[in-house]
Parts: sequence; structure tokens; C-alpha cells
Amino acid sequence: MNECARTSIKLLILFILLKYGSSSKLVDPSKSLVWGPGLKPDKIVLPARYIFIHAVDRDGVRFRKSPPYAYQVFIEGQSGVGKCPATINFIDRGDGSAIVRYKIVRVCEKIELHIKYNGSHVAKSPYIIENTIYPEKCYCPQHLSTWLYNNECSNNDQRIELDLQPFKQVNFSNIRENLIKKYDMPGSVSICNYVVKNNEIYRKCYGKYVGYSMFMDATLLSLTRVVKLPDIEFFLNLGDWPLSKKGGHQRTSGPYPIISWCGSDDSYDIVLPTHDITEATLENMGRVMLDMISVQKEIYPWIEKKEKAFWRGRDSRYERLHLIELARKHPDLFNASITNFFFFRDREDEFGPTVKHISFLDFFKYKYQLNIDGTVAAYRLPYLLGGNSLVFKQNSPFYEHFYYKLVPNKHFVPFKRDLSDLVDKLRWAKAHDNRAKEIMETAREFVQDNLMPVNIYCYHVQLFNEWSKRLVSPVTVLPGMERVKQDVKCDCRESNHIAKDEL
Ligand SMILES: *[C@@H]1O[C@H](CO)[C@@H](O)[C@H](O)[C@H]1NC(C)=O
Ligand SMILES: *[C@@H]1O[C@H](CO)[C@@H](O)[C@H](O)[C@H]1NC(C)=O
Ligand SMILES: *[C@@H]1O[C@H](CO)[C@@H](O)[C@H](O)[C@H]1NC(C)=O
Repeated sequence: MNECARTSIKLLILFILLKYGSSSKLVDPSKSLVWGPGLKPDKIVLPARYIFIHAVDRDGVRFRKSPPYAYQVFIEGQSGVGKCPATINFIDRGDGSAIVRYKIVRVCEKIELHIKYNGSHVAKSPYIIENTIYPEKCYCPQHLSTWLYNNECSNNDQRIELDLQPFKQVNFSNIRENLIKKYDMPGSVSICNYVVKNNEIYRKCYGKYVGYSMFMDATLLSLTRVVKLPDIEFFLNLGDWPLSKKGGHQRTSGPYPIISWCGSDDSYDIVLPTHDITEATLENMGRVMLDMISVQKEIYPWIEKKEKAFWRGRDSRYERLHLIELARKHPDLFNASITNFFFFRDREDEFGPTVKHISFLDFFKYKYQLNIDGTVAAYRLPYLLGGNSLVFKQNSPFYEHFYYKLVPNKHFVPFKRDLSDLVDKLRWAKAHDNRAKEIMETAREFVQDNLMPVNIYCYHVQLFNEWSKRLVSPVTVLPGMERVKQDVKCDCRESNHIAKDEL
């Protein structure tokens, strides 16, 4: 082959490479993916509706990095005051995907969701919603079966089955008095007896510190606005520690059913998503800055992160002090400090000084995040898993509602309760960066499948629904109970929204 032919072949190959290389970097808006509950705002009512977008090139390959241009998202529609007022928030996850969430505060009609990229509509945009859309603040409960169907709640969570196994039949007429007597320890236990009857909420609380009942009030208020709950009665533990301990007298009388935000291997407590993640669900795009959607925004790309384990928190467990010791011994591996001393005040000189709080999103400047129990499970775990750092989790008898689904070394790196292997695990992660990144990515997929707002709503409704089937005594509003009232902003009881049944 002569020089000239060789050169032209080289040029041809170069040309193909350039063409292929550049075209594969361009987003093909029509092939890109758009999905999520926010596409059905008439059926799935959430405080903030959300949609996922994943950029795809013309060969159908998903992007792994943010595409070069920003998406343009807008909502058209009409409300009683003219245009449908909507706030829109865009969360770039930095892996080729993004979340768009939006909040409407008025009843709107003729809604069109427009999602564009580089001037072209993405996927099937514009999405036209035929039915009226109600804000979550409206009182528009759907029938239970319709709601479960519309929200695509999958089969009951296995955690619900596990937790309810010891409670096949519950006769509150029989056990209520003794239950209240047993846990009436005002200084140390705070519990509330809730009744939901005809979709109205009532409660009576026992204990000194009952302020946290506001979380359950808000949850039930939101749920009853969107779904007609079955009649139920339950006891909610407002404290950290699970109450219905295994062993002891319960071997004969059977355990008392108590709903808690934290479960443990040695208790029968029935777990609900924590007040923390539930509040973040109810208040996303509202009062809270940190929620399961906002935490997914990529601020610090993986390759720019500092390769250290970061930790901040209170002194609520001895291992947290031990962590400070380790961090001092290995400043190349850790950046860990206590923010408040309360439980071990006398050891502040030794394990202090305290440092100022930093924004949770700034934790993700660091590649490795540590989850160490506080008094019970550390309720930050969902947020750590949703961020783009690798999570190291201490072995623990305490759990939240979703822990049993997490697989060690798939979603997080486990370490021993006494922290004795933590340094080795960190060294392993530093030496296996690809594997570390993969675990981080799998954790974020887990979050997307299990801990998004719709999942938190489903879990509550499914648990309450299963619970209602086990109550053998009649559900009645009991003497001394206080009504928790809706502050109804709008109401669609007059329309036929409730009666419509798609099943
Ligand atoms: C934007 O769109 C124009 C016109 O369709 C196209 O030529 C160009 O390559 C696109 N740019 C990107 C970065 O997608
Ligand atoms: C529930 O307990 C009450 C009080 O002990 C009893 O009278 C009632 O028959 C029980 N109900 C059922 C369905 O077992
Ligand atoms: C630890 O982290 C904080 C917050 O990012 C930072 O200000 C500080 O300089 C870090 N300390 C060390 C020793 O790197």
C-alpha cells in the first residue's frame, strides 16, 4: 500500500471516529427518557410532583454525565386566577439523569408539561393532562383501592408482613387499658393513642414530651386529604427507643402492638418511615431544605471529592467518641468532629472542641460518609445513600423501615459495631475506586426505587390498611380524645373526583 492510500484510510477512520464520537455525545431528545409520578398529577397527588429525565444519544445509549445544555421545563395551564401558578425545581444528578419537581398551589386545568432540550421536545413532551389537578392541600381523598392502584404501590413491603406477624388479631378493647398502664411513664415514655374514623383524626397522648405528635398529625392530615383511610386505632411511640421488648412478661401475655419510627432486633415494635424522612416528604419544596430529592443534586463530582471519611454529629453514643479518637490517629483518612456535647459532657475536653454545623450537602465534598448510630438508628442514612458519596454503615440492632432491603457491599460498606475494622474498610475503598463508585451508584438506584415520596406514602397507607384488617374491636373515638382538624384550603367533595374509579 502506498503512502497516499494509507493516509486516506487513516483519514477515513479518523472521520468515522469523529462523526461517531461527536454524535454519541449529542442528546437525542426524542430518544431520551422521561418517567415518574409527576406525569400523572391528576392521579398521583403529592406535595411536590416529580419527574425523572435521562439523556440518551441517538444510538440509544444513556448518558453518564450531564449533557451540555440545560433542559427547559415549563408548565402551562389555567386556574381560577388565570395562569396555573407553578414553581419548578431542577435537580441535575450529574450522571446523565435529572429530577424535575413542581408544586402547584391552586386547582388547575388544561395542564401541559413541556420539557425541551436544545429547542426540541424531550420524549413525549408536551404531556397533556386531561383531568383537573388538585394541590395536595385540597381535601380530595380517593378510594383506597383507587389510590393504591393510581400510586402504583407494589405488593406490601416485606417489612410490614414481618412486623405484623405477631399481631394476627388485635382486640384493643381488651388490651388498651393495660397497654396505657404499662407505658404510662411520663418522664421516660411518650405515646399517643390515635384513631382514624371516617377519615377524621383523633388522638390522646400520654407523657411529658408529646410535641413530636405534630409529625404524625401532619402525616395523617396529608394522607386523609389524598386517600380515604380505613378506620384504625394505633399507639405511636414518640420516643427514640423501641418499647415493646422481646422476652419478659410478653412470653405469656403476648406483645403489645406499638408503632415506632425505629425498630430493633430485640423488640416487636412496628416500624413506620421516620418522622424525619416523612416530614421531608411532606415538606419538599416547602419548609425543609434537605429531602430525598434535593439531596440527589450533584454538587461535588466523584473525581473532585476529598478521599476522606467525613462525619459530624452529637455525642449520643460512645462509638462516636471512639471515632474521634480514630480520626486523630488517621488524619489522612478522616475528617470527623462532634458538633454538641450532651451525653458525655464531662469528656468534652478530651473529645472536643466542638465544631460548627455545616450544610448537609457539603458533607458530599468528601468521598466517604459514615453512618454511626446515635441513641438509636441515625436517621440520616436515607440522605447519605441518596448523595453521591460512598456510605459506610456501622452494624447495628436498630433499623428503619427500609434497612432490611439494603445489601452489605452492594449498597453500602459495613463495618463492625466497635469500629475495629473501619480503617481497613476505608483503605480498601481508596484502593478500589471503581468498586466504591459502583456501590455509591447502586445505593442511589435503591433510593430512587424505595425512598422517594411516593414510596413513603405507599408504605404508610399499606401498613395502615394491613393494620385495619387485624383490628377485631370496633374502632371508636374514645373519651378524652382530641380531634386533629384539617385546615382545608379547597375541597373537591362536590365534584365527582372521589367517585371515579378506574379499576
Ligand atoms: C442543537 O440543535 C441543533 C439543531 O437541531 C443541532 O444542530 C445541534 O447539534 C444541537 N446541539 C446539541 C449540543 O445538542
Ligand atoms: C374483645 O375484648 C372484649 C373485652 O375483653 C370482649 O368483650 C370482646 O368479646 C372481644 N372481641 C373479640 C372479637 O374477641
Ligand atoms: C474538615 O472539614 C471541614 C469542613 O469541610 C473543613 O473546614 C476543615 O478544614 C477540614 N479539616 C481538615 C483537617 O481537613
